[in-house]
Order: sequence, then structure tokens, then C-alpha cells
Amino acid sequence: MPSTTASQLLILVGTMTHTAAQVAQAIEMACADLISAIDVRMMDGLDPSVFDTDALYVICTSTHGTGDVPDNAQAFYASLDAQPRYLGHVRFGVIALGDSAQYPQTFANGGRRFDERLRDLGAVRVGELCVLDASVETKPESAGAAWCREWLTQALAPSEAS
Ligand SMILES: Cc1cc2nc3c(=O)[nH]c(=O)nc-3n(C[C@H](O)[C@H](O)[C@H](O)COP(=O)(O)O)c2cc1C
Repeated sequence: MPSTTASQLLILVGTMTHTAAQVAQAIEMACADLISAIDVRMMDGLDPSVFDTDALYVICTSTHGTGDVPDNAQAFYASLDAQPRYLGHVRFGVIALGDSAQYPQTFANGGRRFDERLRDLGAVRVGELCVLDASVETKPESAGAAWCREWLTQALAPSEAS
């Protein structure tokens, strides 16, 4: 896998009660020195054309219902099935929010679903999932920002080989 020339990080946010949005905003502030541009987009109204750039992508989404993606991500998630396209140029990371104590059977499935679907379409995940567990994590913004600093370093490294 060649190194990336990406100069933009695009964070796509699925959220119901704004925790994931706050994590994305924390990343925007904490990682500004690592890449030229960081843009945060809510998933409302998105379709697969959002991947028509050479940006790096982070999917930052919570889980709702019984292991579903949040309401504002439903149409976007469905569009990845309805309008499938090869996403071999896409390199992405995932921040999956959930609650393991309340929802052990479906823990963090929102992010896991996006991860699976994007990889099905040929996109390449860099690194491991960042799982933010509401039952143990009191500062999801700090944890997400710390993860993203390491993730960006890996994603932008010349010899990155994942
Ligand atoms: C109605 C409801 C359903 C939920 N379902 C799940 C679930 O199935 N699995 C899970 O891991 N977390 C579940 N959660 C927990 C949320 O994903 C978690 O609290 C997350 O931090 C919320 O992020 P948000 O504010 O960005 O939506 C649920 C929360 C609510 C309120």
C-alpha cells in the first residue's frame, strides 16, 4: 500500500445525542497540526459521492436502536447498499461509540456496520477500530482525540503498510 498524499481529513458523524459530534470537534482541535485541513460533516443527506475525494476518512458514529446506526446515518448507510460503488481509493478509520453494560449483545455495532460495509466495497481500513464505551469512558472526546492523533500519524506515514 503506497503512502497517502492526503491533505484533508474528513470526519463523517453519525449521532443521536451529540456525543459523536463532540468527539469529532475535539479531533478537529487536537489534530490541526497534523494535517492541512480537517472537516466535520454530519451524515444527514450524505451519499456515496462523499467518497469522491482523496481525503482520509474517519467514520465517527454511535449505536442506537438494537445495534443500528443512528437516525441521521440511516439513509447514508442504506445508500452504500443501494448505490454500491468500488471504494478502493478510500482509506478510513472508525470511531465506534456504544455502551457495553447496557447493550452487550450489540455493543458498538453502528461503527462496526460501517466498517464492514466500507471494506466490502473495497475501502481500506487503517489501524484498529477506536471503540468508545459509555459505560467506562468518562471523557470520550479526549479518548477519541488521542486515538486520532496516533491514527493520523500512522495513516500519513510514508511506509504505512496496513
Ligand atoms: C435508545 C438507545 C439505544 C442504544 N443502543 C445501543 C446499542 O444497541 N449498542 C450500543 O453499543 N450502544 C447503544 N446505545 C448507547 C449509545 O451508542 C452511546 O450512549 C453513545 O455514546 C451515544 O452517542 P451519541 O450521543 O453520539 O448518539 C444506545 C443508546 C440509546 C439511548
